[in-house]
Amino acid sequence: MTKRHQTFVILFILIIVCATVVLLLRKNPPEQTQTNPIHSNTTAPDNVDKPVAKPVFDKTTHSINDPQSIWIIVNKQRSFDPITYTPQDLVSVGNGQQMRQEAANALTKMLKAASAENLTLQPMSGYRSYQTQQVVYAREVETYGQTVADTQSAKPGHSEHQTGLSIDIGGGGCGIEDCFGNTAEGKWVAANAYKFGFIVRYPESKDQITGYRYEPWHIRYVGKELASEMKKTNIQTLEEFFGI
Ligand code: DAL
Ligand code: ZN
Repeated sequence: MTKRHQTFVILFILIIVCATVVLLLRKNPPEQTQTNPIHSNTTAPDNVDKPVAKPVFDKTTHSINDPQSIWIIVNKQRSFDPITYTPQDLVSVGNGQQMRQEAANALTKMLKAASAENLTLQPMSGYRSYQTQQVVYAREVETYGQTVADTQSAKPGHSEHQTGLSIDIGGGGCGIEDCFGNTAEGKWVAANAYKFGFIVRYPESKDQITGYRYEPWHIRYVGKELASEMKKTNIQTLEEFFGI
């Protein structure tokens, strides 16, 4: 091979190598190592979706011990402190019954919404003082004996009715009776009460947890936030929701 031929072959090989390198670089560009002077290279660009943290329900928003709190929990183990607590903002909800202002406002809205669907809900027994509950409980014991009475009536100082946040409602031809749960009114309450901040406080098959048998008529105001969360998480009792 002449010297001229050798030079030509070397040049040809160099051109092929250069062309291959250029092609490879275009396909896999090297990583940018220079820091962007405006956006730090540790920050995601603005147009990239960042994961949004799910809001966590705050179980400490209201007290479960303060009788004035809308989240107060009273049951067989938990009495009022003071035991004869009396709410200061009771108002009439009709039919001679009273509730605390906030609960009464919610009940009024609920009765109106039910009425718009041709369902009539009747307030039967709202706020009951410590003294009234003494009379109610004594009558239950006299009528049914203490064992049965304790499945459906709270001892004075242990009744939710003393909070001013609970009420027994009737409708569809049933008062404070088992049949209420099977009426259109009772079914509507079970399905819609949470929208107004109420829960059915003593659900079916939760006797061991609440201490009381199923009471489809007894609703308790806890506020829309908690009632909706309990609905969403399908946790039916305050005892289970707050883990007490
Ligand atoms: N019936 C409910 C448990 C009460 O007496 O408060
Ligand atoms: Zn009740």
